[in-house]
Amino acid sequence: AADRPTTIILFGATGDLARRKLLPGLLHLFNSGLLNDVRVVGTSLDDFDRESFIDFARKSIAEFSSHPDVEKNTDAFAERLYFVRSDAGPDALRKVVEEAESAFTETPRRLHYLSVPPKAALSVIQQLQDAGLADRSRVVMEKPFGTDLASARKLNAALHEIFDESQIFRIDHFLGKEAALNILAFRFANGLFEPIWHRNNIQHVQIDVPETLGIETRANFYESTGAYRDMVVTHLFQILAFTAMEPPTSLEPEAITEEKNKVFRSMLPISTGDVVRGQFQGYRQLEGVAPESETETFIALKCRIDNWRWAGVPFYLRTGKKLAEGQRIISVAFREPPKSMFPAGSGVSQHGPDHLTFDLADKARMSLSFYGKRPGPGFRLDKLSMQFAMNESTGAHAVLEAYERLIYDAVRGDHTLFTTAEGIERLWEISQPLLDNPPPVRPYEPGSWGPNQIHQLIAPAAWRLPFER
Ligand code: BG6
Repeated sequence: AADRPTTIILFGATGDLARRKLLPGLLHLFNSGLLNDVRVVGTSLDDFDRESFIDFARKSIAEFSSHPDVEKNTDAFAERLYFVRSDAGPDALRKVVEEAESAFTETPRRLHYLSVPPKAALSVIQQLQDAGLADRSRVVMEKPFGTDLASARKLNAALHEIFDESQIFRIDHFLGKEAALNILAFRFANGLFEPIWHRNNIQHVQIDVPETLGIETRANFYESTGAYRDMVVTHLFQILAFTAMEPPTSLEPEAITEEKNKVFRSMLPISTGDVVRGQFQGYRQLEGVAPESETETFIALKCRIDNWRWAGVPFYLRTGKKLAEGQRIISVAFREPPKSMFPAGSGVSQHGPDHLTFDLADKARMSLSFYGKRPGPGFRLDKLSMQFAMNESTGAHAVLEAYERLIYDAVRGDHTLFTTAEGIERLWEISQPLLDNPPPVRPYEPGSWGPNQIHQLIAPAAWRLPFER
């Protein structure tokens, strides 16, 4: 059970992710009783001490917690926070961890959470070893895991020198979203859809995650990352795997991982001609961004899964910053009937093929669009839809945020929703042609849907977004 004493050593404790998600998430786990005997040792290069870190955590929680009873227990939680600067050396780190753990009556579990950019990960791993904190502990690695195949291999090798694979949790928070697991429930708990989940019936799939957000205070991170590494090689490909995988033999982590990795193995290398890269106008003028920066803030691509189920079915992926709308959808377009008996003008085809749409937003909506008869004389068709939204049937209270769920799983040692060394290395491998030879970045207007070339990429089909109103 998760109520065993637990120490969380949080590297990057004063960063953007800690502020927005991790500290508010830890408080919510604490409040909901899932993680009540906990101490958190924050560490970062910023100039903080315990008092100012506690203050930082309180402010982060007040600003970003999405839970209604957020103020509850903040004081009790704050007492469980510690801080040590990450340049203070391994002895100082160990001492603070021991101090934090001194009140525990049982040997605690330790979870190291590396919320640090890829280039800092190696030195943190070294620090854990030097401080003697690696044994009997678990380690959560934030994404992106490395920046290419060589660096991911190096990072895996360094991790494997100190940790067993069973101790390593490579996090991808999209997999912690309720809606992601719902894809598996939808596909494998029902007899209705799985038989048509196939190239014979599916024309293409879109995974579309436009954001209205810019890069906020993350220019440094973003300049060395870009949209592909930040979103595609991680979140979008993981979601693609859930959408495309074969039925696993069970819901055990090994079985799910095996099927996901088979999808990654079947993916063809990303070809430069199938990619549109973009950069929003004004990006180069932002503080911390190089005046000639070629970093993409937008990317759209076509990828292929070359196996029996999906041969010939393109998967279109898109994501970017400062776009017209914030959405996170998977949209499956079904093939049209082999022969239409409805004459032109009856409304058929006007609205494109039937779609099944998963919304990965917190509401976890799902909808199925199809043609039906318009009431009245004659025989005209309308596009109708059936919809379901999770929060309408379940109390929102029961819902854990993606990060909360994944931290809880890692503390308990459940690997189901984490990624593996093999899977990640394969994804970097298929990415290499694009990383070696990226197409030029094309400017786009903030508030648009990206550069114009996105339409050619998907033609003769069309992007599902924006939805017709
Ligand atoms: C993060 C990326 O992993 O995911 C961010 O680094 C992005 O750039 C975020 O904004 C999106 O996550 P969510 O949960 O808001 O869809």
